[in-house]
Amino acid sequence: MQLRYDDVEVSVPATSANLGPGFDCLGLALELRDLVRVRATTGTTEVRVTGEGAGTVPTGEDHLVVRALRIGLEFAGAPQVGVQLTCRNAIPHGRGLGSSAAAVVAGLMAARALVDNDDALSLSSVLHLATEMEGHPDNAAPAIFGGVRVAWMQDGAAHCLPLPAMPNLRATVVVPASELSTSRARHLLPESVPYEDAVHNVARVAMFTQALLHPELLLTATEDRLHQPYRSEVLGESMAVLETLRSRGLPAVISGAGPTVLVFGEIDQVTTAALRAQRWRVWGLDIATHGANARPTTLHGHA
Ligand code: HSE
Repeated sequence: MQLRYDDVEVSVPATSANLGPGFDCLGLALELRDLVRVRATTGTTEVRVTGEGAGTVPTGEDHLVVRALRIGLEFAGAPQVGVQLTCRNAIPHGRGLGSSAAAVVAGLMAARALVDNDDALSLSSVLHLATEMEGHPDNAAPAIFGGVRVAWMQDGAAHCLPLPAMPNLRATVVVPASELSTSRARHLLPESVPYEDAVHNVARVAMFTQALLHPELLLTATEDRLHQPYRSEVLGESMAVLETLRSRGLPAVISGAGPTVLVFGEIDQVTTAALRAQRWRVWGLDIATHGANARPTTLHGHA
């Protein structure tokens, strides 16, 4: 399998997983994108990062986009090449907004665009490989396909479907200054949960599948007993913010493993100003109806 292009650009949206009750199975894409350019070269790998994560992420073969790119090229049976990678990052790191899924999907989608052969690397293979790297499919699925998604594992493979939602759906993210690693937040989860808590969440996820068409259901449909309570000790002020917002009728959830709080809809200006005064970043974002987008810029051998 030869490369068809030498130079590709990829944009990948931020994502919010879990959405309250849907631990490891619900997620949505947000119109906040990392932009990545990959040039295939005959030299060594060079990485340049601006924006979020600049100065802290690796700048060689260990960079997550490069690692994913190599996995994608290998899967496609394409040659490994030198890489000139440029990342313009908008997604905050370590905040539960899918920055690692975005990097993984960016690398895989770059490999797919360089090869440009759907049989060698299809979108469902990208979902499969991204889920293997991430360990769960709920960020990768909306990052690749966009919208609001339910994702699940079946016979070792990841699958996903879109959920219906009102057009022009928006969300507000309340992003704290501090980071939290997903692996640390996952280690806090118990081996088993009470049966009634499982039933509670199953009912809320079932409600959630309709709640984005019936917003009056959203406050109840976003209640969770499977992960947020167990993680509260490492979520800093996020649980207090979440509870304050929910007590005012706003459907607030912990975004992914946290510590960002996501609210379906808008937050009023007074609350926004109060949060910003305490160093929270508050952004109103559209739901990204399109997921990752990859565009070749130079045919192989025509640079
Ligand atoms: N479902 C994952 C978790 C999402 O909550 O650990 C991580 O972004």
